[in-house]
Amino acid sequence: MSTDLMPNRYIPGEADLPTREAELIARRNNVLAASYRLQYRRPVHFVRGEGMWLYDPDDRAYLDFYNNVPSLGHCHPEVNAAMAEQAGRISANTRYLEPKLVDYAERLVETFPQELDRVVFTCTGSESNDLALRIARLASGNEGVIVSSYAYHGTSAATAAVSPNLGDAVKLSPFVRMVSLHGPAGVPQSQAADFFETQVRAAVVDLNRRGIGVAALLIDSIFSSDGVWVDPPGFIAGGIAAVREAGGLVIADEVQPGFGRTGAHMWGFERHGIVPDLVTLGKPMGNGFPIGAVVGRKSPMDQFGDTARYSNTFAGNTVGIATADAVLTILQRDQIPQNALAMSERLRAGLEKLAMLPYGILGIRNAGLFFGIDLGLEDATAASRRAMALNVVNAMRDDGVLVSTTGANEDSLKVRPPLVCQAQHVDQFLAALERALIKIAG
Ligand SMILES: Cc1ncc(COP(=O)(O)O)c(C=O)c1O
Repeated sequence: MSTDLMPNRYIPGEADLPTREAELIARRNNVLAASYRLQYRRPVHFVRGEGMWLYDPDDRAYLDFYNNVPSLGHCHPEVNAAMAEQAGRISANTRYLEPKLVDYAERLVETFPQELDRVVFTCTGSESNDLALRIARLASGNEGVIVSSYAYHGTSAATAAVSPNLGDAVKLSPFVRMVSLHGPAGVPQSQAADFFETQVRAAVVDLNRRGIGVAALLIDSIFSSDGVWVDPPGFIAGGIAAVREAGGLVIADEVQPGFGRTGAHMWGFERHGIVPDLVTLGKPMGNGFPIGAVVGRKSPMDQFGDTARYSNTFAGNTVGIATADAVLTILQRDQIPQNALAMSERLRAGLEKLAMLPYGILGIRNAGLFFGIDLGLEDATAASRRAMALNVVNAMRDDGVLVSTTGANEDSLKVRPPLVCQAQHVDQFLAALERALIKIAG
């Protein structure tokens, strides 16, 4: 999202659409509230998915290089079988004794550093961040939250109020402070750590001065909505130390990087060599089934549980747990993160080759299979870089490959395929990107 709400979107009247899609859009507009927006200038219409592919009603296949939720591939048969089997037996809540809840919780926390050994389940990433903020505020006794300057952390009132990405019309909390990242600020990577720490320290001073105090530094360790700022590993460490000195907690939002996307690690924060106090999970945890979690240190999590009455109707229900359990089994058994790492190296090498041609690739950043690819012809204005990124995304869509944009100016391609992608998919993506770049910039 951005200040113009969603740049890569369908604008009525802008493109000629087939009757079937035009009629469906008219019916949507007649009943769905204005919050709903369709992606791409010519919206895509899908009726089934399988692995890396989505299919339209005419059975045209689209290669999915955008959806990070079905990270094991669309409609994974083993995940679906586990979900259906549990749905056919019982869908119970967490107030009944049920071994699968405990089995899965044990397996999940085993994937974290040993200090992080408690879990509370949720249904979405927003809910995970919302709960983590409540825990951090209670444990610290403070209210202030520090986020990156183009962060997105969710849809609830509390998370939207700490999500500057949502644009000027969505009011930020008076208790939030934003810190810029080196990349968008034009600061070289060699100064990234100092730059980050200096800004966090200034935010802490300001929050303390106003009597607000620091409850949390809330960060997505790959800064996905800021444009994917991942390097150098460890650049966030000084900022984290500053928040801890001030009594705040560190919340790692793993909704995007978690569950192996960064390749070498299960969790994005591990790339930076840090251990957060709370970690929030969502998206790929159920490969499409809505389940999330907060994993964290015993002390703040128990303090919250002992103090606040907390009940959650759906979170941790047995169907969600059986689904997430199947996802974790497959992720570990099939060495999915290792595959993500190998494919990310192939993709990066291919992109670096493309960047040597005069097609307008200005920068490539990635952690595993989450890429930000800056586009623009030399000396282009911000507006023309953004237009180029949108044109490339839509040319690729017409060519049957799905990606979108990210960053404050939305001039970077956001590329995050399911983690099961194989060499032939990477090569198909690269060929489609080259065709689009030649069409737009060649
Ligand atoms: C970093 C991050 N945190 C939180 C969320 C919110 O997750 P959900 O849409 O499941 O509520 C998102 C969603 O895009 C996200 O990217």
